[in-house]
Amino acid sequence: MMDAAFNYIPSLINAYKVGHAGDHVHLGYWAQGTSYDWHTAQEAMTNLHLDALDLQDGQTVIDVGCGIGGSLRLVNGRVCDSMLIGVNIDPRQLTICETHQATQGNRFDWVHCDAENVPLDHASTDRILSLEAMFHFPSRHAFLTEAARLLRPKGLLVCSDIVFEQPRTKAHQRFLDVVQTGYAPWPAPILCTDEMELMAQNAGLILRDLQDLTVKVRPTWDHIVSRRDDPEKSPVAAMRDLHYAGLLQYPMYVFGKLSS
Ligand SMILES: C[S@@+](CC[C@H](N)C(=O)[O-])C[C@H]1O[C@@H](n2cnc3c(N)ncnc32)[C@H](O)[C@@H]1O
Repeated sequence: MMDAAFNYIPSLINAYKVGHAGDHVHLGYWAQGTSYDWHTAQEAMTNLHLDALDLQDGQTVIDVGCGIGGSLRLVNGRVCDSMLIGVNIDPRQLTICETHQATQGNRFDWVHCDAENVPLDHASTDRILSLEAMFHFPSRHAFLTEAARLLRPKGLLVCSDIVFEQPRTKAHQRFLDVVQTGYAPWPAPILCTDEMELMAQNAGLILRDLQDLTVKVRPTWDHIVSRRDDPEKSPVAAMRDLHYAGLLQYPMYVFGKLSS
């Protein structure tokens, strides 16, 4: 399993430990007309995903690429008597996850494994979340196949992605290279939602809903990067400039099992 990648994680872990950041490792969501602060916008993004998951008491829920546990912490506040399982390939983040306390009869389990090979039984899971993580996975198709294997009939997968269109200029190609290097691993950055839907169908999942959050995440850049930062050097500035150039998309998918 990995160790050399995820260079952006240690600074986020440090920021969390000293109280400069919360427990969400993802962009913010600003509904039309809102002027949330950064933390509220990150919680709004998580809550948007959790609303789409249609959670009920007594379920098994897996968060694939669970970061430092912020999403499952919010799931814990929404349900009772549920098994909440966070999966991460990076043990440094799981150490922080272990500090979250389950309540209301819920249980947490934090599992060190790859998104494409989760050590749980077939049809053992009611809901799978993967918030802004699958662009890191070696293969989206392998992840979707694993999700289909894990889900019970009528199970749901809610997942969001950051994808890019083919760069139109040499500068944009360089920015994309900076993103891929700075946020490695990022094996397949160029993808459209139709390709994703087909991939999911081949994996045994059917698209139930697709939301384009591209515009709603845009204010994120004003909160996490300085206007002066150079996109040739800073991966977050490179991502911002690709977004402003119309080359970045942020889709959120809801998939069900094909047979359900
Ligand atoms: C941008 S962070 C999102 C974290 C979390 N979902 C959140 O919203 O706070 C991406 C996460 O995916 C995890 N990850 C990346 N590749 C993975 C893989 N192959 N298997 C499991 N987790 C992975 C990273 O360690 C990181 O926690």
